[in-house]
Amino acid sequence: MTLTVAAMGKADASAGCALYPPTVRPPAGPMPLRRFLFTFVRNPLSSLPQAVYEEPIVVFDGGGRGLAWVTAPALTEKVLLHASAQFPKTPLEKRVFQHTLGDGILTSEGASWRWQRRTAAPLFRPADLAHFVPAMTAAAEGQIARWRTRAPGSIAAIDRDMTATTFQVISNTMFAGSADAEAAAILKASDGTLATISWEIAAAMLHFPRWLWYPGKFRRRRAARRLRRAVEAILIRRRAAGLVGDDLLARLARAQAPETGEPMSQKQLVDNLLTFLAAGHETTAKALTWTLYLIARAPQWQERILAEVHAVAGAGAIAAGELDRLLITRAVLKEAMRLYPPAPVMTRLVAEDIELGGHTLKAGMLILIPIFAVHRHKALWEDPNRFDPERFRPEYEAAHARTQFMPFGFGPRTCIGNSFAMMEATALLASFVRAARFEWDGMHLPEPISRVTLRPKGGMPLKVWLREAIAPTRAPR
Ligand code: HEM
Repeated sequence: MTLTVAAMGKADASAGCALYPPTVRPPAGPMPLRRFLFTFVRNPLSSLPQAVYEEPIVVFDGGGRGLAWVTAPALTEKVLLHASAQFPKTPLEKRVFQHTLGDGILTSEGASWRWQRRTAAPLFRPADLAHFVPAMTAAAEGQIARWRTRAPGSIAAIDRDMTATTFQVISNTMFAGSADAEAAAILKASDGTLATISWEIAAAMLHFPRWLWYPGKFRRRRAARRLRRAVEAILIRRRAAGLVGDDLLARLARAQAPETGEPMSQKQLVDNLLTFLAAGHETTAKALTWTLYLIARAPQWQERILAEVHAVAGAGAIAAGELDRLLITRAVLKEAMRLYPPAPVMTRLVAEDIELGGHTLKAGMLILIPIFAVHRHKALWEDPNRFDPERFRPEYEAAHARTQFMPFGFGPRTCIGNSFAMMEATALLASFVRAARFEWDGMHLPEPISRVTLRPKGGMPLKVWLREAIAPTRAPR
């Protein structure tokens, strides 16, 4: 697959030069089934036809029950909000994730989803998350300390570093440091569940029988069992100790459904803790990985973030109350999530025949909302492939349609961890840029590959230079 890269290192060095970072080159039209399968398994984003980046809706009748790619804001709002009952989550998602996540908030439907979501929602209110910010900045300091042990300017595997840091955050905030024994096994097993996931998705999309073998199947099942065992062990230990504390585990175990006062069962707790763990660290890691890549290629934005962090937070640990004032830092993060949405595709099912954008969609059809293409749609964005955080100045952002930018989804199933993720990503990015300068190696042009989350092909090697002139940061408050 050829990458479309319009501007290279030379252009990036001078402020004001446009940066067109790597993207995928779409095929001209829908493909025959065999080619589609091959392309999809390699990188699902490469199977998105060009028309998906240009039209409000593209319907493909061939093969199976057909599918529609939906991108126009009025139509995605209908699917995700106004007519969401007619567009439930797909059995596909359940089939792909249920071995690991059971019937938690991400994978359940109807009454079961509704009461789990209502029970967990108070845990994720912004005001209740503020006390996690020190745990977030402590994880950033831990990563900065690891960079300090390496030679100045040496290449770091930023994708791995970000996964380790965001895992530390979710582990600290969910298990309050009570999971050290299991942490390494959990981290290793969670990576094992995504590497070959495109086969699992393709098998579900094409309705392969469940007994059929495909690459990675048994490895994913083993990883799922290991993950569930580890989280069960933590829960049993914490129950024995009386479920005290203010971490997500203790709060979820004490939470009760607003109407009935019913707490979650042991299985529901394991399902949801694993859901938060899986949905909550890999996504934020990828948001940070792509952001650091973009600012390494556009150093003028690194300097603007640095100046802002100094002005807002000085040299001390970044406090929860300061995060909303880091407007440039947040604009850069959002522009990175526009170009590289950490969760690049959402799926829904057509429950009954329905009209959408001038097409009659038949019951059983698959709806794909390719956030990646919505965020680069020609009708929605000027010069869509150009990196330009100015788009997220508050005055310009106010003019965006509600589902024009939706890295966290939209409607009743929107990401429950949205505020958590924005707090974490802002605190981590600000801490990293204040402590270090990130430099592109001048060569690596990572293709964005969808593996449920958006991964950089070939990893993300960047040079890290610690800013020695900066006074050491205080211990986190
Ligand atoms: C940058 C980080 C994140 C991104 C881009 C992201 C993205 C998304 C998206 C697009 C959805 C909607 C899926 C759909 O409607 O089909 C979603 C749902 C969800 N996310 Fe996130 N997420 C992030 C961080 C988190 C965090 C930190 C947590 C928890 C700690 C979390 C937990 C969930 C859960 C439980 C759902 C299912 C909600 C429901 O179905 O009611 N996510 N996320």
